[in-house]
Order: sequence, then C-alpha cells, then structure tokens
Amino acid sequence: MRKHADEIVTRMTVDLDNLIHNYEVVRRYVSPARLYAVVKSEAYGHGAVPVARALAGSGCRSFAVAAVDEGIQLRRAGIEGDILMMGATLPVQFGAMARKDITPVLPDLQRMQAWAKQAQKSQKRLPYHIKVDVGLGRMGFMPRAGKQAAEEAETLRENLHLVGIGSHLSHPSGSEEKNRTEQRRFERFCAPFEKRFPHIRRHLAASQAAARFEGMHYEMVRIGGLLYGFEHIKPSPVPLRAVMSLKTAVAQVKTLPSGWNIGYGEQHPVTEPTRVALLPLGWTDGLTSFHIGSTRLLVRGQPCTLVGVCTDFSMLDVSHLSEVQTGDEVVLVGCQGDRRITPIKLGQGAGISTGQLLGKLSIRVPRLYLSDGECVEELSVLNYQ
Ligand SMILES: Cc1ncc(COP(=O)(O)O)c(C=O)c1O
Repeated sequence: MRKHADEIVTRMTVDLDNLIHNYEVVRRYVSPARLYAVVKSEAYGHGAVPVARALAGSGCRSFAVAAVDEGIQLRRAGIEGDILMMGATLPVQFGAMARKDITPVLPDLQRMQAWAKQAQKSQKRLPYHIKVDVGLGRMGFMPRAGKQAAEEAETLRENLHLVGIGSHLSHPSGSEEKNRTEQRRFERFCAPFEKRFPHIRRHLAASQAAARFEGMHYEMVRIGGLLYGFEHIKPSPVPLRAVMSLKTAVAQVKTLPSGWNIGYGEQHPVTEPTRVALLPLGWTDGLTSFHIGSTRLLVRGQPCTLVGVCTDFSMLDVSHLSEVQTGDEVVLVGCQGDRRITPIKLGQGAGISTGQLLGKLSIRVPRLYLSDGECVEELSVLNYQ
C-alpha cells in the first residue's frame, strides 16, 4: 500500500465494514437459506480478492463467479469453501476446474457426461449444479427436461455429486405474475429430482427477487447487489449501507465562448458562454457517452451536468458555480454536503444497469479499502496480480 494516499486524485473507496454489515443483515434475512456471495466481474468493480477475503473473514464459505479464471484468482488468493462457476463452461476448461475445486453449473446432458469423464480422469467424485432456463433465453435445460436430466444425474451418480439446481429470473423487477410463472417453470424442472436427490439445493433468486418475493429463497440465493449496498427495491427489507465511493478532482476550469464545442464529434455544442470544469477520468473509468447531458455529479455540494466524455477526460458544466477551482473534489458516487449519488443513479444516468457500469471500471482507478475509517489495503495497477 502506498504511503501517501492523499496523493491519489481519482479513487474508489470500498468500506469493508459496511460490506460486512450488508453481508450479515442479508444472511440473517434469507436464513435458513444459505447465500452465495456473487463476486464476479471483480466483485462488481469493488475488487474480487479484497471483497472475498473480507467476506471469508466474516464466515462466508460460498462464492459465485462467472468465469473460470475468476475462480482460479480466488483460489490463488487463498479463498476456501465452495466456488460456484455460474457462467458457461466448455469441456476444455474442466481439467482446470477439477484441479482448483471450482463447481460448474451444467446446461445439458452432454456437459454432464463430459464432467463425469473428467471425474474419472481426476479420480475423484466431482460436485456440480444443473442450470435451467426459465425465461431468460440463456444457458440451461428447458423446464420440460427435468425428468431426463434427473435420470442422467442418477446414472452419473457414481462419478458426480449433484449439489444443486439453479436458474435466473428474466425480469425480477417486473410483474409478480411473470416472476411466479418463471418460478413455476423452475419447480416443474426440479420436481423429478425430489425423491432421487432429497438434499439438493435449489437456487433461483438473486438480490431483487430475494428482497421482493416470498417463497423464492429455497435452499440458497445468489446475492451480489445487496452485498454492495444497492437498493434496487425500496424500501429495502434489510438496512443496507453504502459500500463504494468514486471521487476525483477538478483538473482545470475555463470559460468557453458561444460557438465552441465540447468533446469528440461535436458531443456538446456551446450555445452560450459556459464555464467548464475538466475531470481527469473518462470512458476507461466507468463513464460513457450515454452519460452526457443526463448525468449530474457533485462539486461544492451542488449537482453539475456532464457535458463531455472522452477516454481519459470528461467535462462538467459549472456555469452556476463561479467559485469552482482546480483541485475541488468531484463526487461520482458517494456523498458531498447533504447530497448523495448512488452507483444505481450513476448507471441510470446512462440508461445502464449498475453491473454494466461497474463491470467496466478499469483497474487504473485505485481501490482503497477502509476499515474503521482507515485505509487498510489498496488495489491498483501498482500492485495488481
Ligand atoms: C446467474 C446470476 N446469479 C446471480 C447474480 C447476482 O445478481 P444480483 O447482483 O442482482 O444479486 C447474477 C448477476 O448478474 C447472475 O448472473
């Protein structure tokens, strides 16, 4: 960790105490169901290894990722317990997964058979989950294939240990009716497994469904957003705390004359003299051209409209704030005065989900991990492994 954290301008902070608070309240809320902590996409940009280590320190033993390398990254960092690989896997990846004890979610009979072959090769009985497509048109068996999948699971029992059946809802913030239809499809698929595999763990809900719908927790839930304090459901059934802040500072202030232009490709024509604050971050750091004109960031406690975004720079209209100067703090996510911008709001400004926004946030933004208000760890290009 570098000595002079105050020399960093653009930075993310991740409050590990608040992360653990969220983990604890969600864990209790979904109990007796158990929780997979979703740490894919670098834990939604928060940094997979520091986040997983903090959760493991609080007793979390089940993690979910969406790429095999993300699972290997966690094992290399010393993370123990279950690692569920929720994404698509091909048989060429099975050797590495077996060696690293990463559990796949399998979408068809052929993949189950290939995993069984891997078990023979590895000379160990391997765990796996089965995936059902209940309406997303994505990976998995169709709901009517439950009987066939259960029979195959029975046949492969000697080599494979069926741990769970999972699915993912297509529109958890949509109508309850639609979600209940998808839930019925899930149950239809699971029914033929009940007698043969009485200890199977079913998991359908991610954050929104877990917070919103009764009877959707089953034996497990896969939770990302709630851990990171994203309140998609309001009022939240559990008291969540904000985990992330994303801040930078004004790098130049100047007034542009009428007829000038801001940004590539005439993103924003200047129609009257405009005071513009330059920010030292851009597309690479999470912003998109969709944020232009619709997103407001905080400077001196006041919202200011984003009028230009380039790869490494962006521009804010501060015409209404004559006192803004170089070095002033700019908040993209977090609090300033009595105003707050959440990651959800920053995504909404561009019409994208929070996951889409944070998943693209480059590692060149240093992540500073706080505990008791102190920086205890840093993740950046200076120490990224
Ligand atoms: C299969 C699956 N399960 C769980 C999650 C976690 O979702 P959330 O962050 O809404 O909890 C995701 C995230 O995209 C996912 O793809």
